[in-house]
Amino acid sequence: MTNPTILGIETSCDDNSVSILKDGKIISCIINNDAKELEEYKGIVPEIVSRFHEKKMLVSLEQALCEAKVDLSEIDIVAYTAKPGLIGSLLVGKTLALSLSYLLNKPIEAIDHITGHILSPFIDSIPIYPYLSLIASGKTTSIFLVKDVNDIELLNYTLDDAFGEALDKVGVCLDINYPAGPVFDKLFDENKAIIKLPSLPAKNKFSFSGVKSQMIKLIKTDQLNNNLQPKDVYASSFLKWGIDNIIKKLKYYQNIYHINTVTIGGGVAANTYFQKCIKSLFKNSFVPNKKYATDNAAMISYVAYLKAIKNN
Ligand code: KG4
Repeated sequence: MTNPTILGIETSCDDNSVSILKDGKIISCIINNDAKELEEYKGIVPEIVSRFHEKKMLVSLEQALCEAKVDLSEIDIVAYTAKPGLIGSLLVGKTLALSLSYLLNKPIEAIDHITGHILSPFIDSIPIYPYLSLIASGKTTSIFLVKDVNDIELLNYTLDDAFGEALDKVGVCLDINYPAGPVFDKLFDENKAIIKLPSLPAKNKFSFSGVKSQMIKLIKTDQLNNNLQPKDVYASSFLKWGIDNIIKKLKYYQNIYHINTVTIGGGVAANTYFQKCIKSLFKNSFVPNKKYATDNAAMISYVAYLKAIKNN
C-alpha cells in the first residue's frame, strides 16, 4: 500500500484514544480520559479504567471519524496498541480493532506502545535515523538506539519506578491529584529547586525509588516538625533532580555511540523544563508536540504508517 489511510487505537492505560492518519498526516486524534474519577484513588485502578474504555471506545471512534471527515469504508489498515499495558484496557482496544478489521476486511497491525512514544517526535514528518530516544512516562524510563522503525535497541531502563510514577508518588504526599506531573510543571521554578539530592551515576541503570523515598520522608518529617516548606520547593527540587539525571545519562550514551540526533517521548516529555533543557543542550534534538507526549493514538497510526510504507 503506497499511501494508506490508517485508523489507530490506543488503550494501554487510562487514555481512550482513536486517531486517523491520511496522506501521511494525522487528521484527527481524540483522547478521552477519566482523570476525575481516579482522583479519589490517587492513581490508576485497572478495573475502573477498563470499564471506562468499554464505555468510551465507540464514542472516541465516532468522534475521530467525524473530526477527520472520513468514512469507515475509507480505512485501509486498523492499528492498535498490543503491549505493554493493563490487560483489561488493552483488550477493549484490541476487540474493537479485530471487529473493524473483520467487518471491513482490512489488515490489522499490532503496535508496541513504547515504539509509538519513540517515533512520536516525528509525527507528521519523517524520522531522522539513527537517533537516541529517551522515553520517560508513568510506566518506564528508558533509552533506546533507533536505527529504523523495525530496528530499535534498548540501552538502559529503570530498575524500579518510572520517573513519571515517582513524580506521581511524591505528588500524593504534597496533596496533588493524580497525575501530578502537569501540576509539578506549573509549580516549577528553577530558583526554588534548593533541596540537595544525590546525583545518580551516569552508567548505571535508572533508579528513582531511593531518592523518591528520601523526598517523601523529608516531606513527612517537615510536616511533623511544623516546618513544611511551600509545595513548589519540593516539586521543583524533585523535578529538577530527575530531569538533570536523565539528561546526564542521555549525554553518556551520546558520547559512547557518537550519535548526534536525540529525542524524548512519553508523558514526562511534555514537561516545559525538560523540553527547554533538551533543546538547549542537544543541537539536533526533537521533542514531541505536547499533545503527542502523553498516551495517544496518533503515535499508533503513525508507526503503522511507517511500517506500511517500509514494507511497500
Ligand atoms: O506516557 P504517559 O501519558 O502514560 C503512562 O505511562 O501512563 O505518561 C504519564 C506520566 C504521568 O506520570 C504524569 O505525571 C507524567 O507523565 N506527566 C508529566 C507531565 N505531563 C504528564 N510529567 C511532567 N510534566 C508534565 N507536563
